[in-house]
Amino acid sequence: MCGTVEIAGAKNAALPILAASVLTGGENVFAACPEIVDVSNMMKILQASGCRTRQEGSRIVVNAATVDQCCIPDELMREMRSSMFLVGSLLGRCGEVVISSPGGCRIGARPIDIHIEGLKKLGVAVSRQGEHTVFRAARLKGDMIRLKYPSVGATENLMLAATAAEGTTILQNSAREPEIVDLQNYLNACGGCVRGAGTGTIRIEGKKPLSGCSYRIMPDRIEAGTFLLMALATGGEVLLRGAKQEPLEVLLDLLRDDGCCDIRDDDGMIWVKSRAGILRNRQITTAPYPGFPTDLQPQLTAFLCQHGKGCSVTETIFENRFGYANQLIKMGADIEISPKQVIIKNNHILYGAEVEAEDLRGGAALVIAGLMAQGTTTVQHTKYVKRGYGNFLEKIRALGGDIEEYAE
Ligand code: EPZ
Repeated sequence: MCGTVEIAGAKNAALPILAASVLTGGENVFAACPEIVDVSNMMKILQASGCRTRQEGSRIVVNAATVDQCCIPDELMREMRSSMFLVGSLLGRCGEVVISSPGGCRIGARPIDIHIEGLKKLGVAVSRQGEHTVFRAARLKGDMIRLKYPSVGATENLMLAATAAEGTTILQNSAREPEIVDLQNYLNACGGCVRGAGTGTIRIEGKKPLSGCSYRIMPDRIEAGTFLLMALATGGEVLLRGAKQEPLEVLLDLLRDDGCCDIRDDDGMIWVKSRAGILRNRQITTAPYPGFPTDLQPQLTAFLCQHGKGCSVTETIFENRFGYANQLIKMGADIEISPKQVIIKNNHILYGAEVEAEDLRGGAALVIAGLMAQGTTTVQHTKYVKRGYGNFLEKIRALGGDIEEYAE
């Protein structure tokens, strides 16, 4: 596959930033929003809370002046994990939020204890009412919070609640992902005072009046990494327009070392050309940023099935993120699967098969495998893939991929 891909705005930046807009008293204009199902669901949640929204392609307008609802509809809560972000922002607006258990990819238990521990430190009372969890805070008060694990979502949720709290909040052992820096930049563009995102310690001065603003979402490093691996898996070359090199350094270093490919980067573009190299005896382990991203683990494993020998991929973030690997075996992959690790014994040619996607990134991995394999592969349940990749099939076809979609 060869050609150019326009990298969209980052799903995992757009979702917390859209939720954060509830904290502002006016109109926000967001550029480069990804056109994906999760963003559509987030818009529905914002509308349910009383925001006025409109979308024109990747441009989204949210006016939060009329926020008046604190209950997130169950059916929307269950659609995705990111609905959790509304807890932090709606608490800041309404002082109370009622939620059912958040949904999201079935890649693990995905508890919310770190969110709850942190919110309690800010003065939030948390109680259960049947299926629902009720968060109440007559008055949010800043505090020092040490996260027991650098949870991305908990870091972002607590940033939002702390923005509305009186006084200063310090988040220690916070997650360092680039999307958290993007959230900090948005909050500050609205008049907030947040410092330290990306360093592991974040300081938030609360109670700053937040006005709406115009903001451009950062490019999606995971979409860029997905198309980079897709192009290399098929022996091609790709220009990733809008991609930044720094957030992908750990993947580029891995591929560059073994002569797998030629890489060139200009500001805002990454060009990669396959040299059909084989990655040998490499042990890759996922870790919180700046470690290898868990959201590229499935796509890398699919690539290694045909371009790796004696490699292993170990997952340390989620306890059930290898569901797709059994599907790769159906395609002829020579791999051994255990709960936390996949070992790629030999690089085998894969053959087309009927496979089933179970989650977003696993589904993307199976599409990569299908494009790489000999023969035709049918990937079922591609609804998961549409949660996180906008215009996915169109972008693949523009690179020369032979892919069609059929109603399930
Ligand atoms: C965010 O999920 C991303 N989602 C995920 O991307 C990403 O894989 C993950 O961060 C890790 O980078 C969004 O940003 C919308 P976590 P999140 O809280 O916030 C445990 C994708 O494919 N944990 O950092 O849910 C948790 O169970 C998605 O785009 C607790 O134990 O991730 C997991 O094992 C998938 N208690 C680990 O921490 C908590 O209260 C990391 O979770 C919270 C998390």
